[in-house]
Amino acid sequence: MKNLIVLGAQWGDEGKGKVVDLFSEKFDIVARYQGGHNAGHTVFVGSRKFVLKLIPSGILRPGVQAVIGNGVVVDLAALIEEMKSLEAAGIDVTRQLAISNRAHVIFPFHRIVEKMSEGRPDRIAIGTTSRGIGPCYEDKIGRRGIRIADLYEPEAFQALYDTLAEDKQLLAQTFGIQENIDYSGIRDEYRAYAERIRPMVHDTSKLLNDAMRAGRRVLFEGAQGTMLDIDHGTYPFVTSSSATAGGACTGAGVPPTAIGGVAGVSKAYITRVGSGPFPTEDKGEWGERIRKAGNEFGAVTGRPRRCGWFDVPLLRYTAMLNGFDTLIITKLDVLDEMEEIPICVAYRAGGRELDEMPATLGVMESLEPVYVRMHGWRSPTRGLRRQEDLPPAAQAYLRFLAERTGVEVGCVSTGPERDETILIRGSRLEELLS
Ligand code: GDP
Ligand code: IMO
Ligand code: MG
Repeated sequence: MKNLIVLGAQWGDEGKGKVVDLFSEKFDIVARYQGGHNAGHTVFVGSRKFVLKLIPSGILRPGVQAVIGNGVVVDLAALIEEMKSLEAAGIDVTRQLAISNRAHVIFPFHRIVEKMSEGRPDRIAIGTTSRGIGPCYEDKIGRRGIRIADLYEPEAFQALYDTLAEDKQLLAQTFGIQENIDYSGIRDEYRAYAERIRPMVHDTSKLLNDAMRAGRRVLFEGAQGTMLDIDHGTYPFVTSSSATAGGACTGAGVPPTAIGGVAGVSKAYITRVGSGPFPTEDKGEWGERIRKAGNEFGAVTGRPRRCGWFDVPLLRYTAMLNGFDTLIITKLDVLDEMEEIPICVAYRAGGRELDEMPATLGVMESLEPVYVRMHGWRSPTRGLRRQEDLPPAAQAYLRFLAERTGVEVGCVSTGPERDETILIRGSRLEELLS
C-alpha cells in the first residue's frame, strides 16, 4: 500500500506543484485535501506554464484522476475559470476531475468579511490572499456554511443562502464597510455554476476508498505549508485549514491506515508571503539575491516573497508533526552563486537554547537563530539530473540538511521542469514511488 502524502515543510511555495506533477505519473489519483484558490502551484510541462490554484497538479497527466476533497473550500467562479484555461490547453477536465459534494463554497461576500480583519487599523493584518478563504472556513466551523451538495436542493439552498447573505449584510453595516454586492444575482449565478460542474460532483471520500480497495494508488496533495497550519503554524499568521499530514485524512475522507508514506517538500532555503514571525529572514542584500535568483514573487498575489536561510529547528518541528519519511529539496540551483550559505541550526531566546517551537508570537519574534556557515559551490547545478554530477559542496550541503533534520533527502530539484530532478538512489522515496 503506497499511497503518499506530499506536502509543504515550510511556509508554502516550496515547489509542491512541480513535485506532485512529477510524481503523479506513478499514481492513479491525485487528491487535494485543504485550502482553496489561495494556493498557487506553478508547473512547467515543456514550454507550457500552468498556474494551478484549486485543481490538483495531477490533472496535467492524461489518465490521472484529480480530486478536490471535502476539506477544500471552493470558489466556483475561480474553479470554472481554471477549468476553462485547462480545457483550452487540451485537458479533458470533465473526465479527469472529481469534486467533493461536501466541500464548502466560497461566495463573493466572504471577501467582505476578510476586509474587516485585514483592512482595519485596530486589527492584526495577516496579509492574506484576500480570496475569502478564512471567512468561508469560519462559516464551515460555525455550522452555517453551504456545501456543494446543497446547491442541488433549490429550497434548502435558498434558505441557507439568504440567511448567510443577511448575516454578511449586517456585518458590513456594523463595520461600516461599503459594499456593492448583488446578493440575489450571485445566488442565480451560483446555481448556474452548479449545473456546469454537476457531472464532476461526487462523494469523493467513497470514490477514494473504493479506488484504494481496488488497488489504485492515491497521492494526497497538500497546499500551503506546515507552518501555515491552523493548529501548528505561527498562529495567528496562518491559513485557516489543516495543512499537515493529519489534514489529508479529514480533508479527503480516508483513514490513517490508508497512508503509506509522507514526503515533505522544502526549498534549499526558505520563503514566506504575508506577515508573521520568520526567524531566518534576510532583509539585506543576500535575501534580495535569493529573491532575484529564485524569482520569489507570489503566484497568486504577485507579492515579493520574504526570503531567508534554511531553518533546521523549523524543519525538525514540521518533520515531527508530519512524520516525514523523506525530504524533497527544491531550488538548489538558486543558491549556485552564493559564496557561503548560512544554515540555522538552533534558536536562542533569553540567553538559552530552545528545544521546542515556541507557541507564542512574542517568543517567536524574539528568537535569535544560531547559524553554521557552509561553503557555497559556485558552479551551476541548474538542470542537473544525476546525483554524481552535483558539486561536492552541494552534496555536503544536502548531507548536512539530512543529518541535522533527521530525515533523508530523497529527491533534489534543480530547476522548474519535470526532468530537472534527481531521485536519490536507494532512498526511502524511491521505494515509496516504486
Ligand atoms: P508551490 O506553491 O509549493 O507549488 O510552489 P510555487 O509554484 O508557488 O513556487 C515554486 C516556484 O519555483 C515555481 O515557480 C516553480 O516553477 C519553481 N521551481 C520549482 N522547483 C524549482 C527548482 O528546483 N529550481 C527553480 N529554479 N525553480 C523551481
Ligand atoms: P501554496 O499552496 C504561501 C499565506 C498568505 C497569508 C496566510 C493566510 O502556493 O504554497 P489566506 O488567504 O490563506 O487566509 O492567507 O497564508 N498563504 C500562502 N503563502 N503559499 C501559499 O499557498 C499560501 N496560501 C496562503 O500569504 O500569509
Ligand atoms: Mg505557491
